[in-house]
Amino acid sequence: MNHINYIQKTEEHVVIIEINRPNHLNALNSELILELEKSLDEISHQKEIRSVIITGTGDKAFVAGADIKEFKDFGIKQGLELSQVGKQKLFNKIAFFNKPVIAAINGYALGGGLELALSAHIRIATENAQLGLPECSLGLIPGYGGTQRLPRIIGLGLAKEMILTGKMIKANEAHAIGLVNHIFPKEELIEKTIKIAKSFNTKSPESLCAAIKSINHSFNKDGDSIESHEFSKLFKTTNFKEGVSAFLEKRKPIFNK
Ligand code: COA
Repeated sequence: MNHINYIQKTEEHVVIIEINRPNHLNALNSELILELEKSLDEISHQKEIRSVIITGTGDKAFVAGADIKEFKDFGIKQGLELSQVGKQKLFNKIAFFNKPVIAAINGYALGGGLELALSAHIRIATENAQLGLPECSLGLIPGYGGTQRLPRIIGLGLAKEMILTGKMIKANEAHAIGLVNHIFPKEELIEKTIKIAKSFNTKSPESLCAAIKSINHSFNKDGDSIESHEFSKLFKTTNFKEGVSAFLEKRKPIFNK
């Protein structure tokens, strides 16, 4: 892998994926998107990995957006493909991943970088993080799900303000509006994020996967029915039997991976 570092924390059952183009503020180019896709496809089958943390290398950025240099000469057809392929290969893959994905935002999360974080299930930020969707300043709009996911997280009014003004907000404001779940000092970001990841790791993996899928459909008209189906499918799992037995026997459950 040229543009990502893959750090497996075996004992914690966590993988950290570092986006590694610090000289370009970790901007997402097509090669990087393919590398991330490949990594996620592999992780999705690795039972010993229970959750994923995505972060950026360097001091300045999580990801400062899609690589502007790559699409500067695009026309309509290539623009459509850029958006659709990116969603299919990466952004929707993260949103519907079968394990919890946490974005550990260590600096700028702009444009496609914030959209990447919005696709993740939880967002944690450093005190110096700055978040924004500046695409309207480039004569574009967010094309990797930002116009859909941001309003679901912070509400229509604030999302329109962020997108239409393109302004960056600081970590404390992002925390106040629910865009990031927690803020930590830079030097504690990964350690604290692993701690949060470990709190998912004690749960039934099938339950986490079903919960992610059901929550993702919460704004769709079929969300209620998807929830009922996901709920019912869990009754046939051994982890359901284990969870209920452990409760009744007043002990901690030991879930299969
Ligand atoms: N795409 C491609 N390259 C990018 C990039 C992006 N989204 N964001 C930063 N870079 C590159 C810069 O071009 C620069 O490369 P260079 O050294 O070859 O000129 C390098 O990363 C460092 O960025 P620079 O702008 O010099 O850093 P800065 O500290 O002065 O400013 C930002 C930081 C984040 C404010 C600024 O880089 C920026 O506005 N980036 C674009 C953000 C954006 O519009 N994202 C949405 C894209 S859809």
